[in-house]
Amino acid sequence: MFLPQSPSDECVVILIGPASELSKKPCRVMYSPLGRDSDVCLFYVRGQFFAMDARCAHSGGPLCEGDIEEADGVLQVFCPWHDYGYDLRTGKSGTLLEQQVYEVKLVDGDVYVKHASHLSLRPFPMCKPVRET
Ligand code: FES
Repeated sequence: MFLPQSPSDECVVILIGPASELSKKPCRVMYSPLGRDSDVCLFYVRGQFFAMDARCAHSGGPLCEGDIEEADGVLQVFCPWHDYGYDLRTGKSGTLLEQQVYEVKLVDGDVYVKHASHLSLRPFPMCKPVRET
């Protein structure tokens, strides 16, 4: 079963949507209410889904806009800014940098991702600061 490991596990399992729809694009951004640094890419490559932090660990490049290729026998996304490659399964790169990856499950045709916050395929509205009078 795809549930948090223990009551202290702060991750939640989030329903993202139907696989039939999500498999139509190689990558989508899943927005986090915690901010841009917590957004996640949902990749669909060769019949499999993968989830990884959307901002590159090097300098914040948008990995969802990167090329996806098999290099050295490893399925990788290449950052569009400086071309670092990250293993879609592990988040490891050929450098010391590593991307956080997240567990993805298919249940009854729906895609679920395990993450510390809610995720949405639509950006969350910006909060306006409240002024005290
Ligand atoms: S920002 Fe991604 S490789 Fe530099």
